[in-house]
Amino acid sequence: MALSETERWMVHALWKKIGSNLGIYVTEALERTFLAFPSTKTYFPHLNLSPGSTQVKTHGQKVADALNLAADHLDDLPGALSALSDLHAHKLRVDPANFQFLSHCLLVTLARHYPGDFSPAMQASLDKFLGHVTSALTSKCR
Ligand code: HEM
Repeated sequence: MALSETERWMVHALWKKIGSNLGIYVTEALERTFLAFPSTKTYFPHLNLSPGSTQVKTHGQKVADALNLAADHLDDLPGALSALSDLHAHKLRVDPANFQFLSHCLLVTLARHYPGDFSPAMQASLDKFLGHVTSALTSKCR
């Protein structure tokens, strides 16, 4: 089901507060994902995944840019993320389970940095947003 007006408002309110720091938090979430769910590292054999690595930081910023695009296109996520969906499904062949790991770590990371904003309603709104992003990115997996 699409995000309600209130859920959209919550996602946009936190996104506005995060601003240009999103890349920092996505990088932290990626590092957490690699440590908490090490099987995710197998998709990045060509990158240095040590905490603090410039390569993870660069990748984190790219993922953050994609999430910003998604937050700006809540009405058409499949369209906005179509090229990325092709990349993850056909070229990289990422197992959809991995998106749950990254989404979970993103929620944990944002909750740690914004404890005062992270009400249950905010958690539910962000979870739904990331669920829709995941659906858009994995819809082409077979
Ligand atoms: C919220 C979910 C995700 C978003 C928004 C996202 C976004 C992106 C973006 C923007 C890129 C760069 C594309 C380019 O350079 O043209 C990328 C690359 C990549 N993604 Fe994702 N991604 C997500 C989840 C995942 C997951 C769960 C995995 C696997 C555990 C994964 C594996 C990869 C790999 C292996 C690359 C190529 C990296 C490289 O060669 O530098 N992604 N992703």
